[in-house]
Amino acid sequence: MKKQNMFDILLPLDSEQLNYLKKLESTCSNIQCAWLSGYFWKVANQLSNSPDLQIKQDNLEQTITIISASQTGNAKLLSERLYKYFKKHNKHVSLINALDYKFKKIRNEKILILIISTQGEGEPPEEAFSLYKFIMSKKAPKLSDLHYSIFGLGDTSYNFFCQAGKDFDKRLQELGAKSLLDRYDADIEYENDYIKWSKELLVSINNYTTEKNITVPSFKKEDYSVIPQSHYNKANPATAIILMNQKITGRNSNKDVHHIEIDISNLNINYKPGDALGVWYKNDTNLINKILELLSIPISDKITINNNIVTIFDALKNHFELTNNTKNLVKKYANFTKNTFLNNIISNDIYFHNYIIETPLVKMLYDYPCKMSAEQLINLLRPLTPRLYSISSSQDETNEEIHITVGVVKKIISGYLHLGGASGYLSQSLKVDDKIKIFIESNNHFRLPIEKDIPIIMIGSGTGIAPFRAFMQQRDNDGSKGKNWIFFGNPHFTEDFLYQIEWQQYIKKGLLNKMSLAWSQDQKHKVYIQDKIRENGKEVWSWIQDGAQIYVCGNASKMAKDVEKALLDVISKNAGMNLEDADEFLNNLRLNQRYKRDVY
Ligand SMILES: Cc1cc2nc3c(=O)[nH]c(=O)nc-3n(C[C@H](O)[C@H](O)[C@H](O)COP(=O)(O)OP(=O)(O)OC[C@H]3O[C@@H](n4cnc5c(N)ncnc54)[C@H](O)[C@@H]3O)c2cc1C
Ligand SMILES: Cc1cc2nc3c(=O)[nH]c(=O)nc-3n(C[C@H](O)[C@H](O)[C@H](O)COP(=O)(O)O)c2cc1C
Repeated sequence: MKKQNMFDILLPLDSEQLNYLKKLESTCSNIQCAWLSGYFWKVANQLSNSPDLQIKQDNLEQTITIISASQTGNAKLLSERLYKYFKKHNKHVSLINALDYKFKKIRNEKILILIISTQGEGEPPEEAFSLYKFIMSKKAPKLSDLHYSIFGLGDTSYNFFCQAGKDFDKRLQELGAKSLLDRYDADIEYENDYIKWSKELLVSINNYTTEKNITVPSFKKEDYSVIPQSHYNKANPATAIILMNQKITGRNSNKDVHHIEIDISNLNINYKPGDALGVWYKNDTNLINKILELLSIPISDKITINNNIVTIFDALKNHFELTNNTKNLVKKYANFTKNTFLNNIISNDIYFHNYIIETPLVKMLYDYPCKMSAEQLINLLRPLTPRLYSISSSQDETNEEIHITVGVVKKIISGYLHLGGASGYLSQSLKVDDKIKIFIESNNHFRLPIEKDIPIIMIGSGTGIAPFRAFMQQRDNDGSKGKNWIFFGNPHFTEDFLYQIEWQQYIKKGLLNKMSLAWSQDQKHKVYIQDKIRENGKEVWSWIQDGAQIYVCGNASKMAKDVEKALLDVISKNAGMNLEDADEFLNNLRLNQRYKRDVY
């Protein structure tokens, strides 16, 4: 066996970097070597104050790395809490977003903690996509020195519950990593699971580090968290005021989309194009009254929430989900009522799945009413969670305002109109001067390029256009020279052309270079944005070659997948690659932050 010399062992470079260095060295004269040494010294000094290097330095000596992989902020909040918890217990820990994690470094990790939600249909959140692809690929290294733990966040009402966490867990095992603690798969009410897991994890880590005699370095400098903290957040929302609430689809449209402007003056809120707005909504009064009536509960009955006594009406107004039916809820209700039909439904997976989709809570109660107490009702329900909306304004343009573009979720079931909880509240209940509870959910993986001359291609259907309005406002304010191309799709040109006048003005100004529109129902055959991408394939490819960044926003289950297929076809056809190579090419674009998606 080749003996490793001391220099190699102490070297802060991995073998790949060392090879590069040796190759470079072999091509350099003495003068060039001397110049390079001075050059790297300068680079090192320039970097020493930058957060980036701080992370790298921490990595060299760190013991625990927490990776946060989140889409709507829950995993991010829990990661921040875990980070603080470990610090309080004197652990040497670093916290990083999955997107910022240099995943090839995973081979150097000793203890890795992953807090990850599941999105789409059993997929990892967008910011963890590249890490996921790398770990699942043949390129993933053996990880026999790694100990890890995973906290999965999900929702039991989805078919692939906590699938992303499960996938990572399985793959890490295959790569030889050892689990410190069994994975937790937590539902929407994750608080108790989180507390239990974090405590058990601390014990496991303590046992492991004592057993292995791993020294935990004491803290020399202020730890650096790559996740910025903000004043207002989900747990501490700001109260803002509605300035405008206007329907922006035509009278004959099947879609009801609202443009909402919110006043944030004096709140000291900052946001960037790409961020989303979190909204704490209130349930509809008629819906609450109907539910209480069907269960024979007086609206003034009292219950206790977080040590406060409130009426059941107030509790349902502000604290519980009433518009989403779930498997758990139906199971609990079937058990409570002993209803034969419901009990039959839950025993058949396919019927059960369809029943949940087709039957809102109030319809189930209408079909099978019963008598229960306020307390019993509360035990059936899930806590209300805020909804996110892509911000459709740039703060440089609108100053103390936030704009959002809300598509109202409407369903007619057995002749009754059912509205989505938050989209119903935003579109129907909120009037000018009303108060609204909000917070900013920052979205660092969906940012405009820093270099202003880089071309961008924006692809979105329906309300997926929202962040691109913010992008264009920003590019306009920045005087960006980079070319801009929008692909937009909706059913009808006359009814559903969201923000039409603004796009026309940008085109006139020369800021918007190209707009490709797909009106799916304006002709016999359906035409979607993916068709427009294929139709313009040669030009799309030419923009990609010119360094364009591609942004996709909107529906995850259908649109984003079809758009990705179209992009793969364009790359494959124009670059003469097979689909597998095209996939690799697109993934490289993703890795280089040139293919960014914000899909829901
Ligand atoms: C990062 C992010 C950005 C988003 N940006 C926007 C945006 O800019 N504009 C926007 O309008 N929405 C956006 N959304 C979606 C938004 O957060 C809500 O999910 C949406 O408004 C529905 O919530 P709701 O409370 O009205 O409906 P819920 O009360 O949650 O749902 C009521 C019923 O409708 C079903 N349902 C929910 N959504 C749909 C749907 N789209 N189609 C059919 N059935 C549905 C539910 O399963 C349920 O049965 C975004 C979501 C994310 C995660
Ligand atoms: C668009 C969307 C799709 C989702 N898909 C799934 C899913 O397939 N499986 C699952 O278990 N949970 C799913 N969830 C639920 C989330 O995982 C859950 O809300 C989680 O707490 C979100 O954590 P995050 O805020 O860190 O992203 C989905 C949520 C959204 C908004």
